[in-house]
Amino acid sequence: MHGSRPLSNVVATQRIHEEYGGIVPELASRAHQQHIVPLVHRALAKANIDKKLLSAIAFTRGPGLLGSLLVGTSFAKSLSLGLGIPLIEVNHMEAHILAHFIEGPDQQPPPFPFLAMTISGGHTQIVLVRDHFKMEVLGETLDDAVGEAFDKSAKLLGLPYPGGPLIDRYAQQGDPLRFPFPIPKVGGLDFSFSGLKTSILYFLERERAKDPDFADRELPHICASIQHTIVNILMQKLQLASEQTGISHIAIGGGVAANSGIRIALKQAEADLGWTTYIPPFQYCTDNAGMIGIVGYLKYLEGRFTHLGVSARARYRIGG
Ligand code: KG4
Ligand code: ZN
Repeated sequence: MHGSRPLSNVVATQRIHEEYGGIVPELASRAHQQHIVPLVHRALAKANIDKKLLSAIAFTRGPGLLGSLLVGTSFAKSLSLGLGIPLIEVNHMEAHILAHFIEGPDQQPPPFPFLAMTISGGHTQIVLVRDHFKMEVLGETLDDAVGEAFDKSAKLLGLPYPGGPLIDRYAQQGDPLRFPFPIPKVGGLDFSFSGLKTSILYFLERERAKDPDFADRELPHICASIQHTIVNILMQKLQLASEQTGISHIAIGGGVAANSGIRIALKQAEADLGWTTYIPPFQYCTDNAGMIGIVGYLKYLEGRFTHLGVSARARYRIGG
C-alpha cells in the first residue's frame, strides 16, 4: 500500500478446492505454506519496492480456518521482527467492509454512519459502521452463510466448487420467476439459508424422479430462480435495517458482493428507495490482499499496533 492505494494486490488461487468440491482445512493450510513466500516476493516485485521500504506488516488474525490463519500470523510476526517494523492485526470481516476505503478511480468511500452487509462464504451480517473501528453487528445468519447457500445449491446441481460464480453466470440466461422458492421467516435482522437449501434439494429430487435430465435442461432457469430468491432475502433485510436505523448509505462487501443480481438490485434501490449504495470493484469483493492492506494503513495512521505474542483466532467477531 502507498497510503490508501495498493501498489500490488496478488492472490494465489487455490485450485485444490475445485478438485475436492470444497475447502479441506488441512490442504488449505498446506497450500498457504507453499504459497506464502513466493507470493510475498511477487507482491513486492509487482509493487517494485524492496522489503526494507515497508513501514508495517498487516495480517489476518481471524476469523477463518485456524491452520491457514496460523501460517499468515507466524509469517507476519517473523517479518515484523526481522525488519523491525510494527505488526498490525486485521479482522477479516472488518477488512471486507473497509475495502470501500481503498482509493480507486471508481471508488467513493461511504460517509459515516453507514450500513454494511458482509456476504461471503463464511458470513452474512448487517453491520452498523459508525467509524473505521466502531462497528456493531445488527443481524447475522443463524445457520448457513449466503455464499454457502450459493455453493451448496450449485453442488446439488452438479456444478463444481465454488458454485456461486457459476450460478451467477447461468442465471443471466434464465427466468428468475420460473421456479419460486420460499423466503424464510426469520425475525429482525437475522438471516437463515438452510431452509432454502433443503427446499432446493426436495425440489430437484421431485423433478429428477419425473425426468432425470431436468436439472441439466432447466439449469439457467433454476439458477436464475435461486439467485432471485437469495437476492430477495438479502434486500428485504437490508431494507428493514435501513428503516430501523434511518440510514440510507448502504455498502456491501465479501465474495457474494461480486454477484450480478445483488449489484443490480442495489442500483435499483437507489432509484426506488433513495439509497446511496457502495459496491466494491470485483477485485476487492472476493478475498484479496488489498482489503487487508487498507486496514493496515488506517490502523497505522492511528498507531493501532499489536504485539508479537498475538495468536490467530478462528472465531473473531467484528469489534471483538
Ligand atoms: O469473501 P470470500 O472470497 O471468502 C470468504 O471469506 O468466505 O467469499 C467466497 C464466496 C463463495 O461462497 C463464492 O461462491 C461466493 O463468494 N461468490 C459468489 C460470486 N462470486 C463469489 N456468489 C455468487 N455470485 C458470485 N458472482
Ligand atoms: Zn472473505
